[in-house]
Amino acid sequence: MSAFRPEIEVLRNNGITGIALQRINDPTVIPLWFGEGDRVTPGFIREAAKQALDDGLTFYNHTRGRIELRSAIKRYLDQLYGLDLNPDRVSVPGSTMLGITIAAQMCLNKGDHSIIVSPNWPNIESTFQVTGAQVCFVRQRQEGGEWQLELSDLYAAVQPNTRAIFINTPCNPTGWVMTPDEQREVLEFCRRRQIVLIADEVYHRTVYDAPVAPSFLSHATDDDPVVVVNGFSKAWAMTGWRIGWVVAPARMEEQWAVMSECFNTGATTFAQLGALAAIEQGEATVKQLTQQYAKGRDIVMEMLGQHPRLEILRPQGAFYAFPRLRGVRSSMQFAQQVLDEENVGLAPGYTFGPGNEEHFRLCFAQSHERLREALRRVLACMDRLPDSAFTE
Ligand SMILES: Cc1ncc(COP(=O)(O)O)c(C=O)c1O
Repeated sequence: MSAFRPEIEVLRNNGITGIALQRINDPTVIPLWFGEGDRVTPGFIREAAKQALDDGLTFYNHTRGRIELRSAIKRYLDQLYGLDLNPDRVSVPGSTMLGITIAAQMCLNKGDHSIIVSPNWPNIESTFQVTGAQVCFVRQRQEGGEWQLELSDLYAAVQPNTRAIFINTPCNPTGWVMTPDEQREVLEFCRRRQIVLIADEVYHRTVYDAPVAPSFLSHATDDDPVVVVNGFSKAWAMTGWRIGWVVAPARMEEQWAVMSECFNTGATTFAQLGALAAIEQGEATVKQLTQQYAKGRDIVMEMLGQHPRLEILRPQGAFYAFPRLRGVRSSMQFAQQVLDEENVGLAPGYTFGPGNEEHFRLCFAQSHERLREALRRVLACMDRLPDSAFTE
C-alpha cells in the first residue's frame, strides 16, 4: 500500500511532456510541441521587470496580486469588452494554469462529476483528476469545415453530480472559437444548475477575424458561478514568466486570497511589474504577434492542406494546427519518428482527450522560415512511413 493518494500515484507524463522532455532545450530540434514561439519577450517588458529588481521589489505582495496590476487588468478588460468590472473579482495567480488549478480545487470534490470540452490541452485533465473528481469529455465535432461544439452534446453529458464544466475558447488544440450566443446559453445553463464554469480565455487575443475573441465576461454577473482564467503567456510572449489573471465571483474574493496563500502567495513580484508594462503598453506587441501567427497559419494550410493523407481544418483562433493523419496506428510513434529522424517536435494527438489517436498538434508560432523548414521535414517523414504504420 502506498503512503500517497491514489489520485497522485496514477499520474503520468502526458504525451506532450512525454516526448518533449527527451530533447527539451536541444538546439538541433525545431520545437513545435509547446504553445510558444521563438521570439523572446519584448524589451520594454523585460526592462520593467529589471527595473523592479533594481528598485528592490523583492518582497511579498498582496496575495491576490499587486493593486496597480489588478487595476490595470480591470481597465484592460473594461476597454476590450465594454465593461465596468468589479475590481474585487480580479486576482493574479502565478500562471494561467495555477488559476485553473485553484478554480478546480474550489469546486470539485472526490467523486464529483466534471466535464471538459475536448479536444483539450492535457494539463486540464490532470488538474481535475488530482481533485478525485470523475472527468468526462465532450468532443467538438468537425462540421462545415470547422470545429464546433454541439451544445446538446454538452447538456446530455451533465449528471446530477456535475460540479464543473471546463471550456477553452479559442481552443487549444482545435482553434475553435465559441460565439457570444453560445456563451450566453451555456452560462445561463450553469447559472440554473449551479455548475461552476471554468472558462479558459488565454488565447483571447489570438483570433484572426476580430481584434479579440468573444468572452464569457460579457455575460457574467458579479456572482455567477464562473471563473474566467487568462494570462500573459500567449498574447505578450511571456510563457516563462508564469503569471496569469482570473476574474472570479466577487463573493469569493477572500477565499481566492486564501487559496493563493496555499499555493504560492501570489505571482512573483518583479514578474508582476513586467506584466504591468505588458498590459499597459503592449497593444502593438499583441497586434504584431497576432499578424505573425496569422501568416504562420497560412503557411501551415498551404503546406499541409493538400496532402492526400491529411485532414486539416483552418483554425479560427489560437496558434495550433491539429491535423488528422488518416489511418495512422499510433500518434506517439509518429511524433517519436519525426523527432528521431527529422529533429522536429510534435505533440501526439492521443494526449488531447479520447478520439484523437490519428491526430497530431503543431504550434505555428515559430518564425516563418523555421516553420517552413519544420513542415518540410514533417512531410518528408510522413511520406516515408511504411504501409504498416497505417490501419488501411
Ligand atoms: C488552453 C491553455 N490554458 C492554459 C495554458 C497555460 O498558460 P500559462 O503558461 O500561463 O500557465 C495553456 C498553455 O499552453 C493553454 O494552452
